[in-house]
Amino acid sequence: MAEPIKVVVTGAAGQIAYSLLYQIASGEVFGRNQPLILHLLDIAPMMEVLQGVVMELEDCAFSLLSAVVPTTDPEVAFKDVSSAFLVGSMPRKQGMERKDLLSANVRIFKVQGEALDKFAKKDVKVLVVGNPANTNALICAKYAPSIPRENFSAMTRLDQNRAQAQLAGKLQVPVSTIRNVIIWGNHSSTQFPDAASATVTNGGKEEKITNLIQDAAYVQGKFVETVQKRGAAVIAARKMSSAMSAAKAASDHMRDWWCGTAPGSFVSMGVYSDGSYGVPKDIVYSFPVSVSNKKWSIVQNLAVDDNARKMLDATAKELLEEKEEALLVCQD
Ligand code: NAI
Repeated sequence: MAEPIKVVVTGAAGQIAYSLLYQIASGEVFGRNQPLILHLLDIAPMMEVLQGVVMELEDCAFSLLSAVVPTTDPEVAFKDVSSAFLVGSMPRKQGMERKDLLSANVRIFKVQGEALDKFAKKDVKVLVVGNPANTNALICAKYAPSIPRENFSAMTRLDQNRAQAQLAGKLQVPVSTIRNVIIWGNHSSTQFPDAASATVTNGGKEEKITNLIQDAAYVQGKFVETVQKRGAAVIAARKMSSAMSAAKAASDHMRDWWCGTAPGSFVSMGVYSDGSYGVPKDIVYSFPVSVSNKKWSIVQNLAVDDNARKMLDATAKELLEEKEEALLVCQD
């Protein structure tokens, strides 16, 4: 058996963590031969709830789980971690725009960036789930200058999974046969779910989805809107934000980062923009990436038509605005 790695989950008493911890501890993320020590961070008023979660983790009798460390102290939480799931923050409530959350949540990610900088392993892989995820990841990286910026990412995998599910439903095929749907930009309603590169494999033959759905009104209209507004639709129905699906997406994101993507497949991750596809540099923007040896690279030379260009620019504009606001909040 390998040595255990330390993994931190923040917001560990919350609803996403409740589903996520099971997936991590059962080996679905880091592999079925990788023992783990779980560090669970939450705030003081949640410690009793967190103790209940710790009891349940014990009662699951996971063979890979070497130890569980619940804490309110960032030093303990981030000490020597190889992987960080930053989930803890204030969730969006019904009728609330993600922007309203920005000033409350950005401060949390400044503090956690500083703690990662001081205490985590320098090759730690950081996944920001808490909203506004892209801008939180940007701020977290800014306050952790000793850790490479490539080690910070924001979650748009839930949007990707939602997009795959919509296309599978439309084509009446299993969701697993669809790949290479892209989410560009922000994890917000300005994101651009893009089916132009997506394919479906049927009877060993891979075909472009746009050849099978020759309906621009659907691909550029209803499909895009449904994915953009899916989070709000779940909140309207459940009166709480997506949790089970968010946890599954966080597992998918970290697993692909840790274990790599299949040849010819790409996934969407919010990562530091290097200016690819004419996106402004120095914002955390969701791109199609492939992963090998635990390093992501942006997939280049995909077609961007006039409509896509407008969508890519609009979501970039929102991220530039969020960045400006967040930097102001951090100066307070
Ligand atoms: P929740 O309210 O159930 O749990 C959040 C937990 O974070 C609570 O236990 C809270 O005490 C804790 N927390 C607050 N401040 C903290 C701090 N400074 N340090 C550590 N823990 C802290 O919320 P839920 O449903 O688990 O959602 C968590 C976040 O994930 C929200 O920001 C939500 O908007 C976001 N989210 C992101 C998605 C994405 O696709 N990127 C999808 C769905 C949700």
